[in-house]
Amino acid sequence: MTQQVKSKQRVAEHGEVFTAEREVKAMCDLVKQETERIDSRFLEPACGDGNFLSEILSRKLSVVRKKYKKSPIDYEKNAILALSSIYGVDILLDNAIACRERLLAIWDKEYKAVCKKECSADTREAAKFILSRNIVCGNALSLRCVDESGNDTNEPIVFSEWAFITGTQMQRKDYTFDELLNGDDASKKKRQKKEQLTLFDEPQLDKEGKFLKQYISDYRRVQDNG
Ligand SMILES: C[S@@+](CC[C@H](N)C(=O)[O-])C[C@H]1O[C@@H](n2cnc3c(N)ncnc32)[C@H](O)[C@@H]1O
Repeated sequence: MTQQVKSKQRVAEHGEVFTAEREVKAMCDLVKQETERIDSRFLEPACGDGNFLSEILSRKLSVVRKKYKKSPIDYEKNAILALSSIYGVDILLDNAIACRERLLAIWDKEYKAVCKKECSADTREAAKFILSRNIVCGNALSLRCVDESGNDTNEPIVFSEWAFITGTQMQRKDYTFDELLNGDDASKKKRQKKEQLTLFDEPQLDKEGKFLKQYISDYRRVQDNG
């Protein structure tokens, strides 16, 4: 993203001014260690087309490449883990779609470069599905999904927590976003003491988020639980 403003109307209505690459990199450097941890979770509640999330994904994937480039199966699993830890919300549908596409392009380019002929169409579909769940078109203030015109619907924002459990088995647990952020009084106090807001606060996750549903599948088939 080189252009910082798309239109005066979008700036006036949605405060849409994109952050320049230099600032993105400098800000990510403030939490460098976390951006280089494969499974550290990041949520951007006004993600635009993904200036921050794409930088974070690139950093994580370069760590995955360094560690696992000699083993396509280990690379693939860890590249999926890196992708599944990145979350975003934007109120404008075109931004949410552009963000998903941008992250998928970064992920896929690295995947092809490392795994070459070992790349699988299933894994690519899994990556696409994870992004369709993690990058949400919604209102980060009301915590509701929005329609194509950006108006709130009755549907709450739901996020999936992804984790490898054994071997190639991946678990997805869905939580409503409002419960994740609000939680009970004890959780609120605990959160107020923290310097940085974390989306999922293991191991007390169940107490903070309203748990909806759990799915377990091979990581290459997460899309079967659509
Ligand atoms: C200042 S731009 C920042 C975009 C991106 N984070 C960046 O730094 O390049 C703000 C973004 O927030 C989105 N936005 C505005 N109000 C929002 C809301 N209530 N919930 C979610 N996204 C919102 C806009 O559509 C826009 O993409």
